[in-house]
Amino acid sequence: MTQRRPLIAGNWKMNCLRADGLELVSALVAKTAEKGSLGCDVLVCPPATLLSDVVNAAQNSAVGVGGQDCHAETSGAHTGDVAAAMLADIGAGYVLVGHSERRADHDESSTVIRRKAIAAHDAGLIAVVCVGETEQERDLGATLSVVNGQVAVSVPDGATAKNTVIAYEPVWAIGTGRTASVAEVAEVHAAIRAELVERFEDGDEFRILYGGSVKPSNAAELLAVADVDGALVGGASLKVDDFWKIIETCA
Ligand code: 13P
Repeated sequence: MTQRRPLIAGNWKMNCLRADGLELVSALVAKTAEKGSLGCDVLVCPPATLLSDVVNAAQNSAVGVGGQDCHAETSGAHTGDVAAAMLADIGAGYVLVGHSERRADHDESSTVIRRKAIAAHDAGLIAVVCVGETEQERDLGATLSVVNGQVAVSVPDGATAKNTVIAYEPVWAIGTGRTASVAEVAEVHAAIRAELVERFEDGDEFRILYGGSVKPSNAAELLAVADVDGALVGGASLKVDDFWKIIETCA
């Protein structure tokens, strides 16, 4: 069976002023240094304003840094947006694309998300492509068709296990304290895995993260599910002790 190194990623969303962000990343860097060898890769995705500072604070550490979004174009007249090459230029290694909050707040379609993932790859970034069904879609029994459809369109043909991570985040579990059950997570992750294996030569090596109210008390059972190769953590990633407990689950 393929061994996939877990990835524990923190999505800070639109949180943290400079002092908070620096305190958070510095504490994380100190903990990873003290621990030495880790059982997983660790990533933080701060807001764009803090990326440079966080990259500097995390230099030469086991903490990777990623953006929360990038534009599909390489440059040009796109006021307020950030190009993938700009993220790479300041030392980020990853970028989230297609988070459900961006799909909802900015009407992002899976087609746009695929273009963003391609832009990320072209800039040398690892794209974390986010997918997930709404509560209404789950209630209609459409979860697998929605998620498989999002993967089919959002993940570009040039994706490999090295340049792409998938994050399954059921929309109804984000920030609600409600987590998908182990059986629900297992079913969706298996379906994503099957789709990746069918489409990509190295489909078995892609990491598939679970996200949605992951916290220290549920991380172990979620991370033990087959085909769950890490977590994308929102709220709990803003508290260093909680995020660290989730990281230690992989030790
Ligand atoms: P919460 O962990 O706060 O539910 O957020 C999950 C998420 O959206 C991470 O991208």
